[in-house]
Amino acid sequence: MAQIGSITISPALINTACAWASNLDQLRDLHSSPFTGAVTTRTSTLKGYNEISSCGVVFANSSTSSLNSYGYSPLPLPSYIDWVREILSDAVASFNVKPVKPFILSITACSAEELSSMIALVQNLRSTPKFAPLVAIELNTSCPNVSSASPSGYIPPSIYPLLRALSETHMQDKSLTIGLKLPPYTYRGQFDAMLSMLKEFNYEDADRGQRNSFAFLTCTNTLGNSLLFPEQVIETLATANESRDKEFAVPTAVGGLAGDAIHALSLGNVYTFDRLLHAENHSGDGLRGISIIGVGGVTSPAALMRMRKAGASVVGVATLLGKEGVKAFELLSN
Ligand SMILES: Cc1cc2nc3c(=O)[nH]c(=O)nc-3n(C[C@H](O)[C@H](O)[C@H](O)COP(=O)(O)O)c2cc1C
Repeated sequence: MAQIGSITISPALINTACAWASNLDQLRDLHSSPFTGAVTTRTSTLKGYNEISSCGVVFANSSTSSLNSYGYSPLPLPSYIDWVREILSDAVASFNVKPVKPFILSITACSAEELSSMIALVQNLRSTPKFAPLVAIELNTSCPNVSSASPSGYIPPSIYPLLRALSETHMQDKSLTIGLKLPPYTYRGQFDAMLSMLKEFNYEDADRGQRNSFAFLTCTNTLGNSLLFPEQVIETLATANESRDKEFAVPTAVGGLAGDAIHALSLGNVYTFDRLLHAENHSGDGLRGISIIGVGGVTSPAALMRMRKAGASVVGVATLLGKEGVKAFELLSN
C-alpha cells in the first residue's frame, strides 16, 4: 500500500497512461481488477487530440518492448470526467465499507489558461465529497510523438506557467494530489534542473512542515526518436495487410520506445530521483515528501521488485498491459 498526497494506492501497482486506458470499458476493467491499486487514464486534452492514421503501436518480437507513435487521446477530458464519475459512482454504491480505488487523470495542455479550464473540470468532479480523495491529476510533460511540441519535461522553464496554475489550485485545496509524468533523463543536469524548478513550489504547512505542491513524479515515459524495422516486430492482424511494403515498423519511422528496451534507463531515473529527493536531501525540504511512481519495462515480478528496490513507492505498467490485457497485473503479482 502507498499513500500519495490524499490518495491511497493498494496494492501499489497501477497502469500508467496509455492507449489501453482509453475508453470506458478499458477503464472499468482496470478499475475492477483486484491486482491494480489505482487506474491512470490515457492523457487527454481539453478538446481532444487529432489522431491521424500514422498513429499506432507495435510489439517487438525479441523482447517485451513496444514502439508507439500516438500523441494524446482523441477523446477530450470531459469524456474521461464522465467515465470516472460513472465508475466511481458504481463502486461507491457497491462497496459501502471497502475503500474505493482512485483514478489518476492524465492531462496535458499547451497554455496555463487551457490547463486552468481543465483543472476546473477536475475540481468540479472532486466537489462531490466522496470523490475528492479518489481523483488525482498527473500532468504529462513527456509525450515524444507530437511533432509541434517537444516534451516539455526536457525544458523545465517552459512548464513553469503550467506548474504555477496547478500549484495555485493545490494551495487553495491541499487535498488535491498532483504529479508530473517525466521523460527519461540521461544525465544529472536534467534531474537537477527539474528539481530546482519544483523547489519553487515548496511551502510551509502549519501541521506538516515543509511540503511541495507536487506529490509525485512518474518516471519514465517512453524514449522518443526510437526506430524498429518491420522484421523486428510481431505482425498483428492490424499490421499484416500493410507489412509487405512497409519500410518501418510504425508509419512515422520513429516513435516512443517502451518495455524491456527501456527498463535499465527507467530504473536509473527512479534511482536518481529517489537519491536526490530522499537520501541526499536531509534539510526538511518540501521535496522530501514527493513520491516516485516507477514505470518502464515492468514485464515480470523480478522487474517489479527491481523498480521497488530502485526507489519506487508505486509501480506502473503500460506495455505488458497492451500485450496481456488486464491479467498483466495478476502475472506481476505472482
Ligand atoms: C501505446 C502507448 C501509449 C502511451 N500513451 C501515453 C499517454 O497517453 N500518456 C502518458 O503519459 N504516457 C503514455 N505512454 C507511456 C507509458 O505510460 C509508460 O510511461 C511507458 O510506456 C513505459 O512503461 P512500459 O515500459 O511499461 O510500457 C504510452 C505508452 C504506450 C506503449
